[in-house]
Amino acid sequence: MPASMPAAPAYPLIAPSILSADFARLGEEVRAIDAAGADWVHVDVMDGHFVPNLTIGPAVVKALRPHTAKVFDVHLMISPVDPFLADFAAAGADIITVHPEAGPHTHRTVQAIKGLGKLAGVSLNPATPAKILDYLIDEVDLVLVMSVNPGFGGQRFISSQLRKIEAIRKMIDKTGRDIRLEVDGGIDVETARLCVTAGADVLVAGTATFKGGAACYAANIAALKGGIA
Ligand code: DX5
Ligand code: ZN
Repeated sequence: MPASMPAAPAYPLIAPSILSADFARLGEEVRAIDAAGADWVHVDVMDGHFVPNLTIGPAVVKALRPHTAKVFDVHLMISPVDPFLADFAAAGADIITVHPEAGPHTHRTVQAIKGLGKLAGVSLNPATPAKILDYLIDEVDLVLVMSVNPGFGGQRFISSQLRKIEAIRKMIDKTGRDIRLEVDGGIDVETARLCVTAGADVLVAGTATFKGGAACYAANIAALKGGIA
């Protein structure tokens, strides 16, 4: 192997959700999780319509972009979503993930994201079956399984989603393509371990990353990666 070959990433990757960060110091918080070993930065975008909460828009993504070189994993919980894809792409998103329920033409939305030169993700709510991926899986770069109902951080992990993660892992392996399988909601050291065993390779963690303040971020992230307390 040539010396320049990048090391294969060590899964699971940890994607802290900045929803649990101090919004008054977001740039500093992003730098702190970067230094603490976060793999991606998960940005939860909510519109008060598709989900019952309002968070941030492209201007904040753009303002945060210079604070880290890590992947910006932008989770759009907005409807309609198509009119905003270009804005998030221009703001510095690397991965743009959408919910099929947010619009009538998910396949077209995925093509639009790829057309903007970004990686495309599809997110499944807890009640949305894996089957919805049958005619999408060959197009996407990432599948995001919601293990809580989207809208808020700090909710309890819904265990029925483990079966869905297992089913999607099989679907992904069958494609032979490099598709990330990410889980979002209620991730702690214990549920992280269950998700990885079920086949997940990226874990979103808001509460579990940011608890205890900046001095704890590195240990929090390491614990999630290792499944140790
Ligand atoms: C929920 C969001 C999640 C959430 C995760 O709608 O998509 O990313 O912030 O928060 P925790 O890790 O606290 O469950
Ligand atoms: Zn999210």
